Amino acid sequence: MCGIVAYTGPREAYPVILKGLKRLEYRGYDSAGVALSEEAGIAVHKKKGKVSQLEESLIGKPLNAQSGIGHTRWATHGEPSDRNAHPHRSSNGKLALVHNGIIENFASLKRELVNKGYSFESDTDTEVLLKFIEDIYNHQSESLEEAVRIALRRVVGAYVIILLNEEDPGTLIAARKGSPLVIGIGKGEHFLASDASPIIEYTKEVVYINDYEMAIVKPDELILKNLGNDKVTPFITQLDMELAAIEKGGFEHFMLKEIFEQPTTVFDCLRGRLDAKEGTITMGGVDPHLDKLTNASRIIMLACGTSWHAGLVAEYVFEELCRIPVEVEYASEFRYRNPVVREGDIILAISQSGETADTLVAMDMAKKHGAFLFGVVNVVGSSISRMSNAGAYTHAGPEIGVASTKAFTAQLAVLMMIAIKVAYAKGTIDQKRYLHLIGELDAVPGKIETILESKERIQKTAERYKDARDFLYLGRGYNFPIALEGALKLKEISYIHAEGYPAAEMKHGPIALVEETLPVVFVATKDAYHEKILSNAQEIKARKGKVIAVISEGDDAFAFLADETLPVPAADELIAPLLTVIPLQLLAYYIGNAKGLDVDKPRNLAKSVTVE
Ligand code: F6R
Repeated sequence: MCGIVAYTGPREAYPVILKGLKRLEYRGYDSAGVALSEEAGIAVHKKKGKVSQLEESLIGKPLNAQSGIGHTRWATHGEPSDRNAHPHRSSNGKLALVHNGIIENFASLKRELVNKGYSFESDTDTEVLLKFIEDIYNHQSESLEEAVRIALRRVVGAYVIILLNEEDPGTLIAARKGSPLVIGIGKGEHFLASDASPIIEYTKEVVYINDYEMAIVKPDELILKNLGNDKVTPFITQLDMELAAIEKGGFEHFMLKEIFEQPTTVFDCLRGRLDAKEGTITMGGVDPHLDKLTNASRIIMLACGTSWHAGLVAEYVFEELCRIPVEVEYASEFRYRNPVVREGDIILAISQSGETADTLVAMDMAKKHGAFLFGVVNVVGSSISRMSNAGAYTHAGPEIGVASTKAFTAQLAVLMMIAIKVAYAKGTIDQKRYLHLIGELDAVPGKIETILESKERIQKTAERYKDARDFLYLGRGYNFPIALEGALKLKEISYIHAEGYPAAEMKHGPIALVEETLPVVFVATKDAYHEKILSNAQEIKARKGKVIAVISEGDDAFAFLADETLPVPAADELIAPLLTVIPLQLLAYYIGNAKGLDVDKPRNLAKSVTVE
């Protein structure tokens, strides 16, 4: 949700910032801007639209500066427009600010400032914050750093800010609460960004800034302080990420690349943990806390969106294998109701980005009730991973496409490994089933590879149905959450209205939608409910709906009935979601692409939702 990037050092700042903004564009792309410390003072350039539009508008301009800040926006306060784009300028033009987050008490701060005679050029909370800092700097404090500190103590909400000061052009002042900020340490230079992707090509040494910390960043000095003005020692970590991981590698879109990476990402996720030959699952972050899981009176999964769907699959798997009651909660609902959380409850927070604001706050709330926090997270060093008492990374690598694909399958793989491990330790499955499930998980990367080989078939199906107005996705049991996920992917990427339902619920309402033009996607691999879902498909056919079915290879009964089949290799029903989701990801991708849409940057969305 908004990407920010900044540089101070001997290089030309603009190309570094521009490249960084392109890498961070998945976080928001309705406007972009830069502020540069040029010789004549701060120059601000900003534009509605994508970063490439900003770039085009600046061709031929000198843009010489050794420090600067940049921003790519996902609008919260104020519509996408040139004037609401960041950076914003102070009244005297000597300060410029970029901000990611929401200042909740901006209205009262704005009233105060208006009474003092300030006027505003934008509708944003960011301009209010900047002018609030400016006012304190002009009247109450000796330094800009102190003014920022005083201002932030009055601010309610979430933020990462970076401030550029004409009077001290090489020094950037940054602060964080609730939104992410990473600082890359180079030789005589520093790079600041919302995540590490703009930084890795320059340095692998980074410092993750914590909530309520401020950074005073000069080319050759990094000072960290808390809001009480005490110095904090920067904790330097090494980035474990390669540049290739954040480039398209010959694919037309990141989403397609990430779908095709899944044999490798699931393999990477299992590697070093699941040993099919030895029949073992070793998980460094889980093993020391295994007793907490085996003795858990309840597991509460907290997540949003696609990660919530992974939680739903895990609910079925944990209850089946471990006999532990599981509840799967939307973090955004959980945090605002008055849920019953007891000591002995395990919170399992699932998140690709590790920065989703609702999930973070919901975890914090559960922690206060004494729950043990377990995180299943993709982004190493992210806020959720740091807030968790223990956890397991999904090791899917950077996911850039806004629609989540490879992170989902990696989440499923981790959650299944944990469930199998806990069940065996608890004695709720015997050794035979334990070894069988390990073997089934081990075979997943190869089976995903087989599914990807049928991409042309899926592409043809996409071409045939791309103009449909609505889609229905139906599944039962372990495949019900996959129906939800398939519908979500289609909505996000193609803007076609799609609904996911448990197949048996169809008769309680959605069947009214069925007509000749309605494609109904069945997720119907061979499992305990196979006969039942076959009957549901017959009911759709009887009403002239079109049936597209994800089926197990060689399932003639379904093949006979369906208009289109998308076969996947046979697998244990519990493991099947790792396979059945793949054709649905591809179907959504090919439909979105056939409609000429920007599948990597679907409208109105942003990759990591750091505001509630
Ligand atoms: C859908 C998608 C979102 C995220 C959701 C949670 O394709 O990407 O629904 O799954 O915003 O994000 P994380 O997993 O980062 O907490």
